[in-house]
Amino acid sequence: MTEGKADILIVEDEKSVRDALIFALKDKYGVHLASDGKKGLEIAAKGNIDLVLLDINLPEINGLVLLERIKDLDSSLPVIMITGNKTVDSAVSAMKLGAYDYIVKPFDIKELMALIDKALEKKMLEQQNLYLRSELEKTAGFEKIIGQSGKMKEIFSMIRTVAKSDSTVLITGESGTGKELVARAIHNQSSRSKKLFVAVNCAAIPENLLESELFGYEKGAFTGAMERHLGKFELADGGTIFLDEIGSMPLSMQSKILRVLQERVIDRVGGTTSIPVDVRVISATNSDLKAEVESKKFRSDLYYRLNVIPIHIPSLRERSEDIPLLANYFLGKYKIECGKKIDLISKKAMDGLMAYRWPGNVRELENLIERLVVLCQKNTITEDSLPPEIHKSGLLTEKMDDASKKFELGFMNEIMKNANLNERQLKAIEFVRSKGKITKQGYIKLTNAPKTTAFRDLNALVKLNILAQKGIGKASFYTLCE
Ligand SMILES: Nc1ncnc2c1ncn2[C@@H]1O[C@H](COP(=O)(O)OP(=O)(O)OP(=O)(O)O)[C@@H](O)[C@H]1O
Ligand SMILES: [Mg+2]
Repeated sequence: MTEGKADILIVEDEKSVRDALIFALKDKYGVHLASDGKKGLEIAAKGNIDLVLLDINLPEINGLVLLERIKDLDSSLPVIMITGNKTVDSAVSAMKLGAYDYIVKPFDIKELMALIDKALEKKMLEQQNLYLRSELEKTAGFEKIIGQSGKMKEIFSMIRTVAKSDSTVLITGESGTGKELVARAIHNQSSRSKKLFVAVNCAAIPENLLESELFGYEKGAFTGAMERHLGKFELADGGTIFLDEIGSMPLSMQSKILRVLQERVIDRVGGTTSIPVDVRVISATNSDLKAEVESKKFRSDLYYRLNVIPIHIPSLRERSEDIPLLANYFLGKYKIECGKKIDLISKKAMDGLMAYRWPGNVRELENLIERLVVLCQKNTITEDSLPPEIHKSGLLTEKMDDASKKFELGFMNEIMKNANLNERQLKAIEFVRSKGKITKQGYIKLTNAPKTTAFRDLNALVKLNILAQKGIGKASFYTLCE
């Protein structure tokens, strides 16, 4: 990238058209020029071009042939064909060969710029999707917990560690942050995964039924107890019990749960002997359990027993860089479910989603995307379809720009972490971070890599938009992309 601008290669033999294009595009984009196909191909092969404007009628290599070669080099590089009236048929062939679109001479420059922006946005989204897919594959064992923020990475690593033990876990976090998802992931990654994960919502079961629900009852234990009934703890034997909304557990039941945790036995209602159970307990709450302990609504001894390993899931607004990833993930999920062809969420709509506070966290985001997919009549979800509360939250304000920059930076760092960079490349990035730039010779000296390996490493870093190549020939060097 040239100073944070997208780089456009213009391959056009007519000087007047070339000059008009440079004049129109130079402020907004980095412009590279080639007057014939051969030179065009050379520039494209360097790998730091984001989009090509390609004349169909070229001397030496014809535009269509060049298009094919460019697509061989990098199939994701968008190419817009420039065509005269007489060559519109060839433009149609170009589309079949993978051109993004074509524009007929004489063209309206505003129209061309809109086309360029659309193509660049599509390319960015495709990259994002690719990344998203690889992230999904990596997190398959994580019950599709989506997240790329540092905070979610910490949770993933916590899940991995905790799954290896049998310790009791207390998951805290606002409603809709994914507490149950995390509890299931711990179970699924643990040696208990072949046995049941039994979830009990302590707030949803009336106090007088809670004991028999949890511990079961013997036949004849009370009127209506016609058969022996196994409780949730016995069902979860060998597996995991998830006590959701543990904060609403009545005090009378708290002492009974404490006994299970201490002695690893349960008593069925109406039973005469204690039954041993081997259950891992994970509990969750969105209330401040510590405060409940202080106000004597929750037993402190039980609190400490449950809170052996605390996992706190941050609210969505504390990890807004996860929002685009989650939104695209839910878009993918619901468009398949609804059988709709919706390609993307527009940049402005995404900015709106990122600025909103999400009191209902991921659940609220998921529900919104489902609603937008159902109602969407176009192939893009645009900002005008967002509900008023999101518009009110500062859509299109300056804050948005900050948020999206922050996201880009976070995204860059994640790409770096996930791009499988080798030791040499990481060393060179560190070098560029401290010294500002590196030359090809510098890279070879720093890493002891043979010339061809060094070039391959550097080209890969440029393709990943981590480094940008500046200058030409021997005088060229690499800096970090802005
Ligand atoms: N990181 C995530 N990736 C994908 N889906 C998520 C994520 N976090 C939450 N969800 C989805 O959001 C919804 C709410 O998640 P979950 O039920 O785990 O939240 P919770 O914290 O238990 O909420 P509550 O306190 O209201 O019970 C679910 O449909 C879940 O699949
Ligand atoms: Mg829940």
